[in-house]
Amino acid sequence: MSEKTQVTPYADKDVSKKGQVTSMFDKIAPYYDNLNRVLSLGIDVLWRKKAIKLLQKESPKSILDIATGTADLAIEAAKVIRPERIVGMDISANMLKIGDEKIIKKGLDKIISLEIGDSENLKYDTGSFDAVMAAFGVRNFENLEKGLAEMHRVLRPGGTIMVLEFSKPRHFPLKQLFNTYFKYILPVIGKVRSKDEKAYKYLYESVQVFPDYEDFTSILSKLGFTQTSYKVLSAGICTIYLAKK
Ligand SMILES: C[S@@+](CC[C@H](N)C(=O)[O-])C[C@H]1O[C@@H](n2cnc3c(N)ncnc32)[C@H](O)[C@@H]1O
Repeated sequence: MSEKTQVTPYADKDVSKKGQVTSMFDKIAPYYDNLNRVLSLGIDVLWRKKAIKLLQKESPKSILDIATGTADLAIEAAKVIRPERIVGMDISANMLKIGDEKIIKKGLDKIISLEIGDSENLKYDTGSFDAVMAAFGVRNFENLEKGLAEMHRVLRPGGTIMVLEFSKPRHFPLKQLFNTYFKYILPVIGKVRSKDEKAYKYLYESVQVFPDYEDFTSILSKLGFTQTSYKVLSAGICTIYLAKK
């Protein structure tokens, strides 16, 4: 993404997008799950379920969940796909701490392990996972193509990538209704409940500059992914992208 389209949570020019994103998620971590449910009216849970149902068709035995956050996607995958192992990685220690508590509480700690790391420099071996997935994570990368290229590298040949991400609804009247909610109402609720001035304004702004639909699948193709496809959810508020290595 070019400098011009690079959206950051805070105005601090001395701190990279990555640094700002890490601070933001460390700060909002205690409120993150609850705000997801409130702001999406619980629909975010259904989006993750749908995404995991699509990935289940590939029966992956090893899964890497990039930008796992509080591990909701990893937990859903563990319950539905029952793979041998899931590694959830994230750059925010505070998000992972909440994820770890949930995994232990649900007795899934034999399947899921959480690790701190940067998705643009993965520590995993080339070709070491059957599937690599990310929900609402790739939009936050400082360098989108570098992060996606790393996802491609750690995937085994024939393996599947699944990305669940916000997109921009295109059609009247949902486009107008959703934009009003997303731009004006959601940031206010987010500000009050997360105690962070900017986090939910950044959410809106980052979605506006993020390449969605064919723009995203063409980046995947350019990076060497094949059989790219996407499935639009909730009239375009969210999209699931699938591709193969
Ligand atoms: C909106 S949350 C999504 C969390 C989770 N996947 C979900 O479905 O709720 C985005 C996550 O991306 C993580 N993240 C952002 N940039 C990252 C990077 N470069 N490497 C690893 N994680 C990153 C953040 O720390 C945050 O936990």
